[in-house]
Amino acid sequence: MILVPFPDMNPLARSLAPALGADLSLLDWHRFPDGESLMTLPDDMRDADVAILATLRDPDRLALPLRFAAQTAREMGARNVGLIAPYLGYMRQDRRFRDGQAISAKLFAGFLAESFDWLVTVDPHLHRIARLEDVFTIPAGRVASAPRLAAWIRTNLPDAVLLGPDSESQQWVAEVARLAARPYEVLRKVRTGDHQVDISVPESAALLEGTPVILDDIASSGRTMARAVERLLAAGTGSPVCLAIHAVFAEGAHDVIMSAGAARIVTTDTIPHPSNAIGTAAMLATAVRSLVSGLDLPSSGKNRLTPTCSDRNSQ
Ligand code: R5P
Repeated sequence: MILVPFPDMNPLARSLAPALGADLSLLDWHRFPDGESLMTLPDDMRDADVAILATLRDPDRLALPLRFAAQTAREMGARNVGLIAPYLGYMRQDRRFRDGQAISAKLFAGFLAESFDWLVTVDPHLHRIARLEDVFTIPAGRVASAPRLAAWIRTNLPDAVLLGPDSESQQWVAEVARLAARPYEVLRKVRTGDHQVDISVPESAALLEGTPVILDDIASSGRTMARAVERLLAAGTGSPVCLAIHAVFAEGAHDVIMSAGAARIVTTDTIPHPSNAIGTAAMLATAVRSLVSGLDLPSSGKNRLTPTCSDRNSQ
């Protein structure tokens, strides 16, 4: 296997390549002054299983470069091309909340499946869509970070009281609490806009008996975490620790959460960020190895996007 990381993924790639037993090959992503991209990959990938590593925060910026990279890998001889996307964007828009809206989760999955033969990701935001297979037509593997989160909690915050800020977080909070053998509660959230969120905290003596740890899959605008911190402090808890699986953090979000009174923010390394403290390389490697070894992949890659420009010119 050849592992080809997108540029900001080099730190994770350095742990992932040996865990996968893969050779690490760098690609070059040149941005022209007008915003167009030129992707350059190794020129010999004959018969290789290629895994492109790109985390899909800011997916609009990445979409075309990913497609160009996957297709170029095939043209350089790769026999199949997979995508390791530790964070898979767009999964929250999983239904039409208003008539006329795009169901971005399905559309984005369809877009990726046109370029890649398989995909592995960490804790995708699956809520109204139950399984990755419901939106992906290619084999798709899902890594659960819960064992690593629970191990981090057991080591660093053995008196943690886990709190999910909304009903969607229940799946992660309940599992991490079970594995860490700690109590948990799920708070109630009402969102009325991108930056408008309210959270209510139940009256519970149990909340006051340990270090509150707010656990969510994503911190984006940071408003969910920030409101939860404020409401917990108002309820009399100590300063909460915020644990997010994916450090999406829109601009200023980290500061918004800290200013609300969080003691600390901790994330996994699915998206590079200074708050990363929990590694996912070993879990990703296991999932990729098991998915790829179980596949009956076509020798030439089933998703070739042909004809290429030169094919067209010769027709
Ligand atoms: C939604 O249900 C997610 O799990 C997160 O709670 C949400 O994406 C966080 O968004 P924000 O940081 O913008 O409040």
